[in-house]
Amino acid sequence: MTTFTPEDFGFTLLEDGTSVQDVIDQKIDTLRAEESKEAFFVADLGEVVRRYQLWVREIPRVTPFYAVKCNDSLPIVKTLAALQTGFDCASKCEMHLITSLGVDPSRIIFSHTIKPPTYLKYATSLGIQKMTFDNEAELVKIVCLNSHVLRQKKKKIVILIKYKKYRYCKEDLRTCGFFPDWGMLQGLLPPSLFSHVRAGWGKHKEIGLVLRISVDDTHSMFSMSAKFGAKLETCPALLKRAQELGLDVIGVSFHVGSYCMDPVSYTKAIKNAKDIFDLAATIGYKMTFLDLGGGYPGFDIPNVVHFKQMAVEINLALDKYFPVSSEVQIISEPGRYFPSTAYTLAVNVVSKRVDIKKSSDGKFVPSLSRLRN
Ligand SMILES: Cc1ncc(COP(=O)(O)O)c(C=O)c1O
Repeated sequence: MTTFTPEDFGFTLLEDGTSVQDVIDQKIDTLRAEESKEAFFVADLGEVVRRYQLWVREIPRVTPFYAVKCNDSLPIVKTLAALQTGFDCASKCEMHLITSLGVDPSRIIFSHTIKPPTYLKYATSLGIQKMTFDNEAELVKIVCLNSHVLRQKKKKIVILIKYKKYRYCKEDLRTCGFFPDWGMLQGLLPPSLFSHVRAGWGKHKEIGLVLRISVDDTHSMFSMSAKFGAKLETCPALLKRAQELGLDVIGVSFHVGSYCMDPVSYTKAIKNAKDIFDLAATIGYKMTFLDLGGGYPGFDIPNVVHFKQMAVEINLALDKYFPVSSEVQIISEPGRYFPSTAYTLAVNVVSKRVDIKKSSDGKFVPSLSRLRN
């Protein structure tokens, strides 16, 4: 494991027994001397390490790929990189941040099912190979990555897709610019064009696609499936299309919704994933990768959510549907799980609203209910 140095991480080592509250108090004193009342964060990186240790102890078969979108501050991503976690990146700047820390691209998944072409090209240029999808347009976009605008002639534009030339009216493509945005292009061009796109050549061959499925997320504080994830009934057609296009679909991912409160959601989703693995096998894909997404609590809430209970359900479901002998690589994308208890925000309370109400003797007094708040 990489050695931690305060210089690398910009952290301060504290005496044993010093609490976050002590650090906050000291910082407030310093700020007061500078006549500043700015808000600030205190990050307890020891807590990030403890959360990591808890994870490894409770769900040892699942490698965490931290969801960078949750908190991309340097101390946390550097700490997790040093602990050898993987990373879930959803944008170009997240991919840049994580690779600039020296993280190997094999430890990164580009986990956004709708990717701008420029991000896709950036990911492949960095050597990031694992990425998610949940729709056909995304598959076509990936194949078209290596298509070229050959020339523009008068009102026509010639586009090469897999050795075939297609001519389009410049007028139609005007809004797309010289190198058209593939999303817009697909909207403008006849669908028949894309049915001709076939497996060919280029970077898309190196991409390991992960099919994100839509699962039950009704027991979570924030749902995801309305926006992301292929409905199970559309998966056969999607997988067949991916195969037609010569794309490599290596596995399945899902997200049970953020701050999931029912561990059984994972059991059901893992079973759904297993069904897709079996379906894929009938189509000719031997899947080897399973991504359990996020949803883990940032902290336990008594009688509502307990990470350890979740871990028990996950382990049971994995042993049933994806036993060690299946040799499937299993990852997850915890976000809030890592930073929630590590970060404390200290803010300056500027003022407090107190309502005034008329008492029975006609005097105006502060409302007690407001004062209690
Ligand atoms: C694709 C994906 N993975 C992981 C996460 C992290 O989720 P959580 O913070 O619930 O673990 C999110 C959150 O939005 C997400 O969209």
